[in-house]
Amino acid sequence: MRAVRFHEYGGPDVLTVDEIQRPEPGADEVLVDVEAAAVNPVDTYFREGGYEPGDLPWIPGSDCAGTVAAIGESVSEYAEGDRVFATGLGNWLQGTCAEYAVVPESHLARLPESVDFETGAAIALVGVTAWESLVAACSLKPAERALIHGGSGGVGHVAVQLAAASGARVTTTASPTYHDRLRELGADDVLDYSRDDLADAVVAAGRPDVILDHRLDDYLSFDAEVAAQGGRVAAIGNGDAAATFESVPNCRSKSLSVHHVLMFNAPDFGGVLASLATLLEDDHLTAEVAQTYNLAEVADAHRDVLEESFLGKLVVTP
Ligand SMILES: NC(=O)c1ccc[n+]([C@@H]2O[C@H](COP(=O)([O-])OP(=O)(O)OC[C@H]3O[C@@H](n4cnc5c(N)ncnc54)[C@H](OP(=O)(O)O)[C@@H]3O)[C@@H](O)[C@H]2O)c1
Repeated sequence: MRAVRFHEYGGPDVLTVDEIQRPEPGADEVLVDVEAAAVNPVDTYFREGGYEPGDLPWIPGSDCAGTVAAIGESVSEYAEGDRVFATGLGNWLQGTCAEYAVVPESHLARLPESVDFETGAAIALVGVTAWESLVAACSLKPAERALIHGGSGGVGHVAVQLAAASGARVTTTASPTYHDRLRELGADDVLDYSRDDLADAVVAAGRPDVILDHRLDDYLSFDAEVAAQGGRVAAIGNGDAAATFESVPNCRSKSLSVHHVLMFNAPDFGGVLASLATLLEDDHLTAEVAQTYNLAEVADAHRDVLEESFLGKLVVTP
């Protein structure tokens, strides 16, 4: 099969398309004929060696959608030909930017007939991240208000929809070019993240009970300032390693809690993916695919995911 791999850590140019042996699924694994895989910022962290995957050479890619090509002897829930989507790969399990990927049965769910493969791949990692942040960590409730920083991002645009589907009011921030689409996706209040009076505008919309923060070094103190009493922050990303509060007493007086969320630590990938599949099937959720790439173009996708502005996700179709 053809697979994108890196044989050493480095920039996007270390990615090559190699002809390799098609893998066999282990006892509790499924071999997926990959129709689509998504690209995430974390793929670049593994490629650069900032996060260490297994032994090189390594196939990047954390999520995919496709059909089951073969099953291991202990697999009971899936059969050849089933449409599935998966995530939680590319870390210590080889990734998905290939014609076939081996996936533990626990890391996948059925993809509804009405949902195309590109959407399934695009939503898997970011959907699990949004779920683990808003639902599992922060227990977002109907009629609460959520603030989603960076609503046009891969995580952001799914988090906006998930929060809205749960009955919460949603404030999000994004570049103006994406505001109309984010309203269509369910945001009640959409604000330009570069405005000088952003904190006042967020408070005017309604102090958020739950905040999804993908840039802690920029926004942790901001979060503490704007949050409602008893606010919960889901912390998923930062540029600089250091991110601090300007006023710890302010956090204490609000009983603010911060939940550090790592998608790869999700205890039940398959269960969350099955819930996302229900929301996809019922049209409460979708994924925007901004651009698609073939295997030879994955290096471009790795550049674009960090450098370009787009709404939604970048997807690879092998
Ligand atoms: N902890 C986890 O498990 C987990 C899971 C997934 C992702 N992450 C991390 O979360 C971050 C976002 O991931 P992603 O996949 O959503 O990335 P993405 O698709 O590249 O989205 C990033 C978003 O941030 C926006 N942005 C840029 N500058 C901003 C600012 N100053 N204020 C607010 N928003 C701003 C971008 O908008 P413009 O286009 O306008 O620049 C873009 O929409 C990354 O750091 C990623 O590594 C963590």
